[in-house]
Amino acid sequence: MPVDHRRQGGLVVFVVLCLAACATTPPPPEERPLLAEFANAYPAKSVRPDATREFELVAAPATLPLLDGRALRVWAYDGQVPGPTLRVRVGERVRVAFTNALPVETTIHWHGVRVPNVMDGAAGVTQPPVPSGGRFVYEFVPKDAGTFWFHPHIRSSEQVERGLYGVLVVEDREPPPYSRDVVWVVDDWRLAGDGQIDPSFNTPHDLAHDGRWGNVVTVNGRTAEELVVRPGERVRLRLVNTANGRVFRLDWAGLDARIIAVDGMYARAPVDPTGFELSPGNRLDLDVRIPAAGADRWVVTDRFTRQPFPVATIRAVGEPVATPDFPAPTNARVPAWREAAAIAPTKEYALNARQGGPFGIEWMLGDDGPHAHHTATFLPRGRFAKLRFTNETYRLHPMHVHGMFFKVLARNGTPVDEPFWRDTALVHARETVDVGMVPVDAGRWMLHCHVLEHQEAGMMTTVEVR
Ligand code: C2O
Ligand code: CU
Repeated sequence: MPVDHRRQGGLVVFVVLCLAACATTPPPPEERPLLAEFANAYPAKSVRPDATREFELVAAPATLPLLDGRALRVWAYDGQVPGPTLRVRVGERVRVAFTNALPVETTIHWHGVRVPNVMDGAAGVTQPPVPSGGRFVYEFVPKDAGTFWFHPHIRSSEQVERGLYGVLVVEDREPPPYSRDVVWVVDDWRLAGDGQIDPSFNTPHDLAHDGRWGNVVTVNGRTAEELVVRPGERVRLRLVNTANGRVFRLDWAGLDARIIAVDGMYARAPVDPTGFELSPGNRLDLDVRIPAAGADRWVVTDRFTRQPFPVATIRAVGEPVATPDFPAPTNARVPAWREAAAIAPTKEYALNARQGGPFGIEWMLGDDGPHAHHTATFLPRGRFAKLRFTNETYRLHPMHVHGMFFKVLARNGTPVDEPFWRDTALVHARETVDVGMVPVDAGRWMLHCHVLEHQEAGMMTTVEVR
């Protein structure tokens, strides 16, 4: 029988239209105020790029004088740990020609950056791993100005621990006139008796607890990092926690420091940093005003663990300079989403573990199970979604979602209004955390715990935005 191609074509057009229509069914009334508040909270699209910034990045083994000059065998981007800080401006296209000179396969994930899904570096989901000796070109136009970072997204518990991480700073079109812009990459290392990185990764103890916590803490690869400034300066200090499992709660020793951005995104108003828990994956941008006179030395101390310890020092030296006077950058459009409490969760994830798998323990996201790379929760594009994480364990789980930002809506059922977006939120022992988001970037995005040993043992699934 002859086939009527026109009629078939008509059918295809009809099906496509129906799919498009079904995906844009109007939101229910209770969602509308949330969506109205979200409008313009962050850009849906990137601007048309007016320039391209090209970078070469090589991952390779190296021996570096880290940790106070000791020769440390690491894996490094461009022969440095931390890797290079890539600085671009919003509106520029970023092209990174990557070469894998490691003995193992790897990828690069651009943590927090809303990249096209195929550039997300999630091995086995958005791209096959880059083999040893292979190359891959990452290309994207950042939509948001802020502090981001990059790291492998395969065997991360070993690859990140060995030193593979770097910072991506996306500057505003007109950067606020801080007198100095400084990056502090905070990490910890577990060294063995010979002073080298302890090669036993994913130990039963680390897997069963909060991941691999090291015995040496560094800022920018140094145990005694000192930031020397002039009195009166106003510093933009960008902190990134690249540790596998360690959480930091920094005490600013009386410095005038205020949070202006969390996870890259400007806060609604500057926030007091006291008590902020910087968990693996998180970033903080601080607006630090160095006094023109008086105190001239501040020891920044970690107080997350029972035994406080110094992390780095800031010292003011020389003649005072005039303090730049300008309003701290903010994003007044960060929604409060008070009505979100009434909305039922789109999906509930129980955070728990069971025996089994290659490590003897598997971490998982409830019904999705361990390593649920091919299980996706559908999140309609441009609609409000609420995810609930119920921690059924006594361990820490910093939950991270790729490709979008979310707000913490409630902890243990009590509404909270953090005046900022996040891409990673710490879920404490036996705690329930609700987060809300409006995904606008289509694709299959990873959702996982950023304790890298938990991720390695399965605490990873995906959401599908379309
Ligand atoms: Cu920084 Cu999927 O991670
Ligand atoms: Cu976890």
